[in-house]
Amino acid sequence: MRKALVTGVTGQDGSYLVELLLSKGYEVHGLIRRASTFNTARIDHLFQDLHEKDVALFLHHGDLADASGMAELISSVKPDEIYNLAAQSHVRVSYETPVYTSDITGLGFTRLLEAVAKSGLQPRVYQASSSEMFGASPPPQNESTPFMPQSPYAAAKVYAYHMARQYREGHGLYVSNGILFNHESPRRGETFVTRKVTMAIARIKAGLQNELFLGNLDSRRDWGYAPEYVTAMWKILQQDQPGDYVIGTGSSVSVKDFIEESFSYAGLDPAEYIRTDERYFRPLEVPSLLADASKSINQLGWTAETDHAHLAQIMVDADMDLLGVENPGVGKEWAYRNGEPFYTWPGKV
Ligand code: NAP
Ligand code: GDD
Repeated sequence: MRKALVTGVTGQDGSYLVELLLSKGYEVHGLIRRASTFNTARIDHLFQDLHEKDVALFLHHGDLADASGMAELISSVKPDEIYNLAAQSHVRVSYETPVYTSDITGLGFTRLLEAVAKSGLQPRVYQASSSEMFGASPPPQNESTPFMPQSPYAAAKVYAYHMARQYREGHGLYVSNGILFNHESPRRGETFVTRKVTMAIARIKAGLQNELFLGNLDSRRDWGYAPEYVTAMWKILQQDQPGDYVIGTGSSVSVKDFIEESFSYAGLDPAEYIRTDERYFRPLEVPSLLADASKSINQLGWTAETDHAHLAQIMVDADMDLLGVENPGVGKEWAYRNGEPFYTWPGKV
């Protein structure tokens, strides 16, 4: 049985990745932060009582700020694969917390790499790099496009990207970067723009909200569906040699377009509800992200299947389901437990 260690296991991607790894027969170890409120909603459906037989998911308290804790965890678990998904992942928040974001999103990965290097083990390591690193570089972006980071978050990710490369080339570790473009789902954090929009639609339909305050609607993003992207992460670590891979759909739309697609699917006119609030604009913006994922298509055999229009429908439906609002119902989201598909949304994710 192969063992995987996943940081950021309680996040959007962590939850889908754990489902995938369990369905492939891995023993999965997840790093979780201690919080005064429960932060495991996205993985509660995967929880296994440790007293049961054949437990395959183990959760360990820890933090990317804690170098000694990470070293201890890696030495005791002895993972075959490590997926570093933990991060302060919100771009606008990173302007308010640049030092913290650099520490966790950037330096946190170096702590992990040092722990691996000192352990004497040879796990394969995946780093969650981001299209945000391309920043102001014009589209389309691929593995050769120069990084022009526009935020503390992006600068921290560029730093971590280069540390991955250095430990790969200088220390001989197997370390790969997945440079993932934006990917969303019904499990997306509620302050990212797609989820903010689809939740607002459900609340408008339920009579709970009649305005939606947003920032810059002109930026363009290459939005894909998160469950497909964790498959790419896994495929990246199954390659004989480590490397860097761009993952995206190859199609982009503006925030305004995504709003129009989502509202019209729900039979609403966005002009009646969308308002502007200065607080949601950023000091610097990333104007246009569009993936050239040719390398991944050719080498990994990975392609995105869900486009932004279908993604909008999935997310609108899921949020309407959550509030009990009648909806067309294309967005049923299935997960896998003990190899069997089951419907995960609404309720516990
Ligand atoms: P997310 O939903 O924000 O999840 C982030 C995870 O990191 C959560 O589990 C969070 O724990 C954990 N975390 C935060 N600070 C931590 C710390 N100090 N120590 C340990 N864990 C910590 O992010 P996501 O969308 O799943 O993204 C996963 C990774 O991919 C992130 O590194 C993100 O930057 C990167 N990425 C995401 C996208 C995207 O479009 N989603 C695109 C490119 C790259 P809590 O639950 O306790 O907060
Ligand atoms: N969050 C948010 N909230 N964004 C808004 C809003 C708003 O009210 N109004 C407009 N936007 C615009 C942002 O300015 C940005 O141009 C775009 O919507 C997308 O913002 P987010 O959904 O916050 O995502 P992001 O592109 O900044 O970052 C996400 O994708 C990166 C990959 O490119 C995050 O998941 C990052 O962690 C990830 O690395």
